[in-house]
Amino acid sequence: MHSFRYVGKELYCEDVALSALAKKHGTPLYVYSEATLTDHYTKLDEALAALDHRICFAMKSNSNLAVIRTLAGLGSGFDVVSAGELARTIAAGGDPTKCVFAGVGKTEEEIAYALKQGIYSFNVESEAELQRISKVALRLKKIAPVAVRVNPNIDAHTHAKITTGTYENKFGIAFEEVEKVYARAAKLSNIRLRGIQMHIGSQLTDVAPFRKAVEKVAPLVDRLSQKHGFDFFSIGGGIGIVYQDALASGDPAWWSGSKGKGILTPAAYAAELVPLLKPLGLKILLEPGRFLSGNAGALVTRVEYIKRTGKKNFVIVDAAMNDLIRPAFYDSYHEIVPLTRKGGATIPSDVVGPICESGDYFAKDRPLPKVGEGDHLALLSAGAYGSVMGSNYNSRGLAAEVLVKGKKSALVRRRQELSEIWALESKAPWQA
Ligand code: LLP
Repeated sequence: MHSFRYVGKELYCEDVALSALAKKHGTPLYVYSEATLTDHYTKLDEALAALDHRICFAMKSNSNLAVIRTLAGLGSGFDVVSAGELARTIAAGGDPTKCVFAGVGKTEEEIAYALKQGIYSFNVESEAELQRISKVALRLKKIAPVAVRVNPNIDAHTHAKITTGTYENKFGIAFEEVEKVYARAAKLSNIRLRGIQMHIGSQLTDVAPFRKAVEKVAPLVDRLSQKHGFDFFSIGGGIGIVYQDALASGDPAWWSGSKGKGILTPAAYAAELVPLLKPLGLKILLEPGRFLSGNAGALVTRVEYIKRTGKKNFVIVDAAMNDLIRPAFYDSYHEIVPLTRKGGATIPSDVVGPICESGDYFAKDRPLPKVGEGDHLALLSAGAYGSVMGSNYNSRGLAAEVLVKGKKSALVRRRQELSEIWALESKAPWQA
């Protein structure tokens, strides 16, 4: 369920017309729905009620302070991957003691910072990292809580750039090695073996790979837990969302399964996994990113030009790959709809940005209603891995972001001014 829908001819986010937001704040503009964030968090939380569990939002998917604050208010912990993300959590009022720290390249400074903030656990990716954490903890006279990330070597059947749970990937420690690694880790000073973690990939729309991974890893978790006295098992993130027919999926009927085409609902996820996880008697952590934030956001853009060549109808918009890189990077599909609904026939159109690269497109040969200069479009399901992957490429300022709650809306990131783009730069001393 999400909160973007047409009311008459106008596209709304909750009770706010997106055209009013575009007029007020300009474009490109990210718009987030607080109701969707809350609804998705609550649905997942309720589906897992039979387990002692904690949802740790993967804030790499959307780290806007207002988004984090919304989820922190619901009791969420956070999956962070840098000192920056941990500092953001704290700045947004999140609780570091509910955070897990993932990533293959944690620096000594990051480890020290996280230890001082009282992180719940480091999700460790290598033995070298275990040794580094031990060394830093010893120096700081702290006990470092750690979980080793097990790579279960299960193919998640998702895009190659976002699959993580096979031996082709840089992540985790091979399933067959993990017990030996724990035995060695138990001898390191200032380390507490608090749990175990895995994450097999992102945008999984079928529960089968999750089930396969949990089935494979659960006996290992049980053995290790008996030996080392674990508190938790994190099963990672990865629950996929609807990109095709995103607008239609706002209809609650999709979530009851009566209309949904292969949508992975929290209920279906829980029905398969809870019976496998419950007997472990551990706290179960989840690290969903996209599931909570993806359909909660849209990118609103203005049509600047229509350009017809012999072969193509190009709709040139003011958003670009620097604002939303997913189509260029992963060939991702984002549904594109006009803010004011149009009748009439559709035209196969390429929706492209102003950046000087052929890869700067949002859609190719997409049937779109006839739009013209000054019309606005919304790219749906852009709340995850959208704004966070933004850049200043072509010296374009970062887009503004708005959070909507019912009839209220607030600018939660102002548009970056041009001079801010080069604010960190200077002339070399020898330049006149
Ligand atoms: N936990 C770990 C250890 C992860 O590496 C990730 C995502 C997550 C949790 C959250 O996964 P989610 O629930 O959002 O699927 N930029 C790509 C996605 C990269 C995912 C990286 N890791 C995209 O736009 O599709």
